[in-house]
Parts: sequence; C-alpha cells; structure tokens
Amino acid sequence: MEGITHCGECEALPCDKLRAYSYDDPEHGDKPPGARIERCRRWAADKPGLRLIRPEQSFMDSYLDVCRGYKELGVKHHFPDPDEFEIWGPGLIRRFEDDRLGINLKDGYVPASAFWLVMGGEVIGEGNIRHSLTPVLERFGGHIGYAVRAGRWGMGYGSVLLALLLKEAEKLNIKNALITCNEENIASRRVIEKNNGVYIDTVDNTYEGEQFKTRRYMVLLGY
Ligand SMILES: CC(C)(COP(=O)(O)OP(=O)(O)OC[C@H]1O[C@@H](n2cnc3c(N)ncnc32)[C@H](O)[C@@H]1OP(=O)(O)O)[C@@H](O)C(=O)NCCC(=O)NCCS
Repeated sequence: MEGITHCGECEALPCDKLRAYSYDDPEHGDKPPGARIERCRRWAADKPGLRLIRPEQSFMDSYLDVCRGYKELGVKHHFPDPDEFEIWGPGLIRRFEDDRLGINLKDGYVPASAFWLVMGGEVIGEGNIRHSLTPVLERFGGHIGYAVRAGRWGMGYGSVLLALLLKEAEKLNIKNALITCNEENIASRRVIEKNNGVYIDTVDNTYEGEQFKTRRYMVLLGY
C-alpha cells in the first residue's frame, strides 16, 4: 500500500495476503502458523510515541472520530453520541477533570480518572480508572474500563493500554485491581489475562433488561 513500509502500519492487520502467507503457504508459511502476524502486531503496538495522556482539547477531533467509529459499528460502549457533540463536546475535558476530583458526581458514582492512549495526533484508545469500588462496580465495571478505536483492534493496543492503565492505578494506590469483562468478550479476556489477571469468578448481571455473565479478575499491584 502506498506510503506504508511495514504491516503494522496498515489498519488491515492481518490482511488476506498476510494471513495467506502466514498460515497457508507450504514453503514460506510460519512455524508455528501465525507467528509472523503476531510479530507484526507486537511491532505495531510498540510504535514509538504511543503514550497515555489525560484527555486534552487538542485531541478532541480524534476522540470524536473514535465515537463515530463505535456508533457506525453499533458496538455498545459508553462513548457519547457523536451526533450530539455540540451538547457534550465543549464541557468534556472539564467533566473528566471534575470526575477525577470528585466534583458534582452523579449519585452512586465514585471519583474516576480518564485517560487517552494516543500516538501522533490520533486517539487510539481510552481508559477509565475508578478510584474505589461500589457494590455495582464489584459486579460489573471494576476499577478499570478500556476501549480501543474500532479499526485498530487485534493489533496489540488493548494489551498495552491495560498495562499502562495498571501503572496509573498503582499510582492511585489501588492494591488489588478488579477488572471485569463480559463472558463473550474474548479479546478483553485475553487482554486481562495477558496483564496477569487472576480469574476470580463469573457472576450473573442484568442491564437494561438484558442478562449476561461477567468474568471477574484481580491484578495484584504494588507488592
Ligand atoms: C477488548 C479490546 C479493548 C481489545 O483490544 P485489542 O487492541 O483488540 O486487543 P489486543 O490486540 O491487545 O489483543 C489481545 C488479545 O485478544 C486477542 N483477540 C483480539 N481480538 C480478538 C477476537 N475478536 N477474538 C478472539 N481473540 C481476539 C488477540 O489475539 C490477543 O491475544 P493473543 O495475544 O493471545 O493473540 C477491543 O476489542 C475493544 O476496544 N473492544 C470494544 C470495547 C470493549 O469491549 N472494551 C472492554 C470492556 S471489558
């Protein structure tokens, strides 16, 4: 592809061609199959410049783009509606800051710190660390939530994002980080397990009339 010199720079990782080389080519295929794809993913996630920041105005257009991506895919997450940007956009950074400091919290909410994973001028993902737990968060949500920009999944960013968020959680004096995921969310499961999440149990939850199972994990920090 024009201007792209490495598979990790392309959004289609793995593309059909790379998958075919990696899995199907009897002469040049990978041993074990998929090893080349894994290397490219690691390379992609290890790009210099990938960093976690507090949300800031200069990345707002890119964040809005992330919100659009989720809406287009119809993936359920807590991103605000991009079509209502005029309502939430102007106050977003201030609201994140208030949430962090515990100002004007909604009933039942605890202080929480938001982060954006950025590279160059692009928001790659977002994370949220709840400073403490509530009975609701203990069943669903836990200390840390995270999401990667649609179109950038499967490139290792989720694993790096959680690793960086865990470092921030440690700074917030969280000792046993509770992390939860929907039982069917295999990618999130892997992200947690790769970050040393120790499986605790699976609990039944109901949200907006929908029943689902939530896996709960603990990551020990600061020991
Ligand atoms: C969950 C999410 C954060 C994962 O991010 P990601 O950048 O795709 O994760 P990674 O690329 O680091 O992949 C982590 C592992 O999951 C695996 N994986 C990724 N997508 C997968 C899929 N669709 N099916 C199965 N495994 C998958 C990867 O292969 C990798 O495992 P491996 O290292 O053993 O190969 C991302 O899919 C996302 O943002 N989803 C929507 C929001 C969400 O569900 N957030 C989590 C709420 S608990």
